[in-house]
Amino acid sequence: MNDHRPLIGPEKQREDEPHHDSIRPHSLADYIGQNKVISQLKIYLEAVRMRQEAMDHILFYGPPGLGKTTLAYIIGAELGIDVETTSGPALEHPGDIAAILTNLNRRDALFIDEIHRLNRVVEEKLYPAMEDFRLDLVMGQGPAARVIPLDLEPFTLIGATTRFGALSSPMRDRFGIIFRLEFYTEEELTRIVLRAAVILNIQTNLDGAREIASRARGTPRIANRLLRRVRDYAQVKGNGVITREIADVALNMMDIDPIGLDPMDRKLLRMIALNYGGGPVGLDTLATALMEDRDTIEDVYEPFLIQKGLLHRTSRGRMLSPSAFDYLKLPKPAAYAEPELPFPTL
Ligand code: ADE
Repeated sequence: MNDHRPLIGPEKQREDEPHHDSIRPHSLADYIGQNKVISQLKIYLEAVRMRQEAMDHILFYGPPGLGKTTLAYIIGAELGIDVETTSGPALEHPGDIAAILTNLNRRDALFIDEIHRLNRVVEEKLYPAMEDFRLDLVMGQGPAARVIPLDLEPFTLIGATTRFGALSSPMRDRFGIIFRLEFYTEEELTRIVLRAAVILNIQTNLDGAREIASRARGTPRIANRLLRRVRDYAQVKGNGVITREIADVALNMMDIDPIGLDPMDRKLLRMIALNYGGGPVGLDTLATALMEDRDTIEDVYEPFLIQKGLLHRTSRGRMLSPSAFDYLKLPKPAAYAEPELPFPTL
């Protein structure tokens, strides 16, 4: 199995590019989409501003690239507080988290990306910190070890994860606010592409932006990456302006199909169709067959295929939907049994 994942994990693996920060929205006013989350967040932010308290701990979860990190920084900007940033895998020892927590000022936030990848010892250090703003320092070792409680300033933990299910339940229970981020609509992504084009000084017409948006898998990070690549194409092969035609040819060249699926998405669907009769097939089997990391399949590829209705997670494994065969232009195998609704989710 491919295990070349950077420590930071799937969230950062596929779409990251440099210079993101210039186009990230820095305030709620600039933020497009996630309307339900934003309207609730506005109220909670207003309330803590009035009370001048630290905000309750917040967890964002959902597929990569939908804005979890962006929202953490926006919360900081809206409250005028600092947001210290780290990630689950980066916190190896209890001392790592102790050092960060003791350096926070009153009401500051600590953002932990990929919080589901925290190790147990660090996680357990966090519990009293989250609950009572208390850090239990262990001095000495063995029978002579003593626990010295240390008071912390009130702070906000902002957690982000692609895997709500992988968080332990004591951890989940300590978040007062839990938001699930959804895929963006084409209309929202079009507005995001147009906004980024203005910031990056890229010329695009509305149809060009729409074409990019419709092929961005509901994900702003992907839309912005495609925008840059289509810009390159428009510069070299056209007159620099992104039109629908230019975007279409550029995206076809990149093997992004009309609904936004890339070669790996198609390989996954074809593998289930051709090698496993449409499923059900277990995730580990798929991962081995595709020579891809199982977490990457689960966190990065599957969510969009599921939302498109092409793939289903059932209690017996992954199954293609009938429409996946139409999409692949393949006949349904004789033994293929259409998954029944509702699917027992894993
Ligand atoms: N860039 C990336 N995500 C965005 C969003 N949700 N709103 C505006 N610009 C964005």
